[in-house]
Amino acid sequence: MDKLLVQGGAPLRGRVKVNGSKNASLPIMAAALLSSEPVIIEGVPDLMDVQTMAAVLQALGASVRFDPIKETMHISAEVLRGVEPPPQLVQQMRASFLILGPLLARRGKARLSLPGGCAIGIRPVDLHLKGLAAMGARFSMVNGCIEGEADGLKGARIYLDYPSVGATENIITAAVLARGTTILENAATEPEIVDLANFLNSMGALISGAGTTSIRIEGVSRLKGTRYKVIPDRIEAGTLLLAGIITGGEVVVENVLSDHLKPLLAKLRETGAEVEELEQSAIRAGSSGRLRAVDLKTLPYPGFPTDLQPQFMALLATCQGTGVITETVFENRFRHVEGLSCMGAQIQVDGHHAIVHGVPRLTGAPVRATDLRGGAALLLAALAARGLTVIAEPYHLWRGYYRLEERLQGLGAQVQRVSSEPEQLISTGC
Ligand code: UD1
Repeated sequence: MDKLLVQGGAPLRGRVKVNGSKNASLPIMAAALLSSEPVIIEGVPDLMDVQTMAAVLQALGASVRFDPIKETMHISAEVLRGVEPPPQLVQQMRASFLILGPLLARRGKARLSLPGGCAIGIRPVDLHLKGLAAMGARFSMVNGCIEGEADGLKGARIYLDYPSVGATENIITAAVLARGTTILENAATEPEIVDLANFLNSMGALISGAGTTSIRIEGVSRLKGTRYKVIPDRIEAGTLLLAGIITGGEVVVENVLSDHLKPLLAKLRETGAEVEELEQSAIRAGSSGRLRAVDLKTLPYPGFPTDLQPQFMALLATCQGTGVITETVFENRFRHVEGLSCMGAQIQVDGHHAIVHGVPRLTGAPVRATDLRGGAALLLAALAARGLTVIAEPYHLWRGYYRLEERLQGLGAQVQRVSSEPEQLISTGC
């Protein structure tokens, strides 16, 4: 089994470029099913989740070609054969559920097992189904699978009880080819929603209001092919900025849209970290000396992103004073606390709150990544810690970060991926 070995303590310095957004690429790939013409997507990162989505699309009959060097994906869904992707693919990644809207729109039918993904909560799909049902889709559960049918979707007025990112995406992709107009209220406003709408509009869709809580979609009869470039990954950017800061170094992170990072940048400045927005889509961030603890609450965009909560917790664990993190988006997103505690962090979890008492220095330890962003938090903590950390099950990181260890090495980090553990590192854990 692969492991990551991290010798902590080196301040990271240098420049690093952010890849295209995973969470924008996945819904855009799913939405490519809506056209029978070829679609070219640029800036797609070479990640496990992207490969899983490509396999899902291929299983449905689409042709998918990916050039990881050019980060370009060609998708042609001229003919769609199936409506049921293999359950083992759908269970690997929650985002595979994003093919539901396109399949109902294009084929009038879909059969999906319940989606998997990071173990960060119950993550139901009721809002997806409720929205699509309002447009005329019918759903039933058969042998643990959700079966959906629609004899021509029609526009509807839909109010989401919660601004779910995935539900907003599924409803948009179902509505673009529906008869009539759909008005989606209390929609998610994340930048990835805007990117999906821009992509679809470049294919001839008529979507307005994306990025606000009220989205209007006028149905069209067909969508044409397109060439489109996805936005930079704001979560990867945030993780890299935090890597520079937590190690007491200074990094310049390139290819960022700083508007998308406002909630993180504001919190970082509150801690006393040095953060400067440079020209040409770059941000410089660093620190010298211990930072101040702050409180933090995760919220739907433009609030603080839940996908950066674990990484920010790693920073808080080393700050001066006590900070309280309130997680409001997912009900079980503190699994990284165990690993951080092994490294000497002082954290108490009480329901949706984590109370983090900063310590002057974390120490290396054997730990286990339990999910994608939790794994990133352990890696950041390990970079700042004294001594050696061995991170087991680092494959969670490959789902969302492209060659992260190599890019951190470029900044001076002592991090290494090994396939078996050297004798002296074997430990019973803590
Ligand atoms: C997306 C992101 C994920 C991010 C999350 C919140 C992708 C591929 N993933 O996930 O990285 O952490 O947004 O920013 O883009 N919920 C329901 N019913 C539903 C749908 C959601 O109760 O039908 C709940 C979920 O359980 C969760 C909350 O709503 O507690 C947020 O989920 P949602 O916004 O849908 O996140 P995802 O689209 O799954």
